[in-house]
Amino acid sequence: MGYQQEQGELGALLHLAVRAAREAAAVIREAAPRARSIDWRSKGPADFVSEVDLAAEERILRLVRRELPEAVILAEETAAHVPPEQLARGLAVVIDPLDGTTNFLHGYPEYAVSIAILRAGEPVAGVVLDVPGDELFTATAGGGCRLDGVPCTVSAITDPPRALIGTGFPFKDAGDIAPYQAQMSRVMAGVSGVRRPGAASIDLASVACGRFDAFWETMLAPWDFAAGMLLVREAGGMATDLAGQHLTALGPSSVLAGNAALHAWLGNAVRG
Ligand code: IPD
Ligand code: CA
Ligand code: CA
Repeated sequence: MGYQQEQGELGALLHLAVRAAREAAAVIREAAPRARSIDWRSKGPADFVSEVDLAAEERILRLVRRELPEAVILAEETAAHVPPEQLARGLAVVIDPLDGTTNFLHGYPEYAVSIAILRAGEPVAGVVLDVPGDELFTATAGGGCRLDGVPCTVSAITDPPRALIGTGFPFKDAGDIAPYQAQMSRVMAGVSGVRRPGAASIDLASVACGRFDAFWETMLAPWDFAAGMLLVREAGGMATDLAGQHLTALGPSSVLAGNAALHAWLGNAVRG
């Protein structure tokens, strides 16, 4: 298949993902003024789901099932367990209907809709829609990364003392806290600042557009990073696991992303 035809096909997949993300964002926006009185329940330690997560996911699923019936679906709230070999076959849609639920429920303006389309197991189209910020990050494999339609790239900062690093805290298992604190100490000692905004998809989008020079988190689900990893790669950066190995969106993983220089530096700092 030629480049033009390939990009045409991926563009159509991206268009569908963007439409679905916009529909979910409309549900989230409508609910945002009453966010602090919305009922939510716990799925696990510090892991919550609300009627808004469910309604947003329902909107996405309706559209995807109608327009892409052949696709396998991995969706956080209603289809979270799909074997990797099934996801790696043909087309798969990986959905986080509301990334940053805790932020949303507290009225803290950092949450997004994240949708990736995989082909033969690799992300080929991705969208992260920052709902309160109203910023749309998109990418297709080989087609580059865009912020609101304008091409964007990772940062050119190579000097760690000038770098701003994003991260996510481990919160599901108290036993993960001490090793993470050791990682954090090493990173803090070497860079200009570290931020924990609370929505991994936006953290990766922030790497893709050069706001963060690098990012790490020790354990994420595929719907947290499938779209973001494509954004980073298409923006000229690197997205791997913490060991620096190939990152796959077929299952949970640690994530290390950044421009080439800060990706290498951060990997060494985190691994100690
Ligand atoms: C969470 C956010 C957060 C990350 C967590 C995720 P959710 O997603 O991306 O930044 O630290 O690991 O679970 O639950 O709000 O969709
Ligand atoms: Ca998430
Ligand atoms: Ca979510």
